[in-house]
Amino acid sequence: MSKRTIVLLPGDGIGGVVLDAAVKVLKAAGFEADYVTGDIGWEFWKKEGNPLPQRTIDLLEEHKIALFGAITSKPKDAAFEELDPELQAKGLVYSSPIVGLRQHFKLDICMRPCKSYIGNPLNFIRRAAGGGVEEPQVDVAIFRQNTEGLYGGVEWSNPDDQVYDAMMTHPKFAKNFGWAPKEEVSISTRIFTKKYTERILRAAFEHAVKYGYDNVTVAEKPNVIRETSGMMFKMAKEMQAKDYPQIQLWNTNIDAQMMWLTKNPEDYGVIVAGNMFGDIVSDGFAGLIGGLGFAASSQYNPDTGVAVFEPTHGSAPKYADYETSIVNPIAMIESACMMLDFIDENEKARRIRDAVAAVIKEGKVRTYDMMKMRGRADVIEHGAASTDQMADAIIAKL
Ligand code: NAI
Ligand code: MG
Repeated sequence: MSKRTIVLLPGDGIGGVVLDAAVKVLKAAGFEADYVTGDIGWEFWKKEGNPLPQRTIDLLEEHKIALFGAITSKPKDAAFEELDPELQAKGLVYSSPIVGLRQHFKLDICMRPCKSYIGNPLNFIRRAAGGGVEEPQVDVAIFRQNTEGLYGGVEWSNPDDQVYDAMMTHPKFAKNFGWAPKEEVSISTRIFTKKYTERILRAAFEHAVKYGYDNVTVAEKPNVIRETSGMMFKMAKEMQAKDYPQIQLWNTNIDAQMMWLTKNPEDYGVIVAGNMFGDIVSDGFAGLIGGLGFAASSQYNPDTGVAVFEPTHGSAPKYADYETSIVNPIAMIESACMMLDFIDENEKARRIRDAVAAVIKEGKVRTYDMMKMRGRADVIEHGAASTDQMADAIIAKL
């Protein structure tokens, strides 16, 4: 069988550092692949006026599977100032290349697992009923619709007349917003389609069945956002009744869900939500299991099989130039395990996860975040493990 080719998209800042660590772990676990590196990120914005060059899209089109580190995004003014002076006159507008990838390849399913590792000093603890503390074991898989909703990009400030007039035909717009001068109105839409709502719900239920979760929660706001949230919950009810009667379906409001987050996080199995609420609830749960150093994600299109695996953290520019990198590679390594699961290399994924769990449980090798230190170059002198030392410790357990 020919070797699989994996596209590496290091991006900016610490993206490349954590990606190197993850590839090292993959190799040590016996995963054989060819790797090709794709250009993406701020550097290519500055030099070429495009942070997601066509050649990178072509690479992913060809090989389908990518591991992505992180990119740097900066506000409009900075994006313009740092652009090559020869390109500045062209009126180019920066837009996030990771959002661009999601849209181009319609990576509509985003999955973010949040599972506590035993012995992680960053695990959430809470006061127990009889005094003392308890440490609930969180094991949640969050399915976030990744292409529609509030992040769909259909928005206006000072909308043109056609849009404004159409909005005015809605009685609530006329009544509640009609008083405002058109130039002072900004509109961001929240569009859900049946097709993609069905797909994210299906993925959530299928995951519950495959991995033995007994409940799926829709975390939206159907009592207020009646059309979009309402549609998602209604479809979930129908799907559950028809195809997944063995799985319990729960309905929570996103705001209440965030309040309950610390009360009973261990009760939840699979959570499914639209784009923005999925983003929010996954960050919330990630905080219970150690935060950005532990938060992994996959995004894929079930039809084309194109999939991108990435930690949810950004490029952490302040640590990018450290001679010895201090950042935690576990989120990237966990993302690489999700890639292995995706391509049916489950046994290798399991071995790596076991190795990560063993290192955390033993507690001898911990990056600065796990030691609750402020991130600075001298954390190594104070006993924190470097990025490489953490990767090596994991490899030693394989
Ligand atoms: P960030 O996630 O890069 O960093 C926030 C803080 O989290 C850091 O200062 C650091 O203390 C900690 N942190 C992040 N990754 C860590 C790791 N692996 N180990 C230990 N600690 C870690 O977010 P920030 O500072 O808001 O943004 C920095 C840049 O990253 C911005 O340009 C932003 O646009 C971009 N970004 C990119 C994302 C992506 O590529 N998917 C996601 C989030 C932000
Ligand atoms: Mg986020």
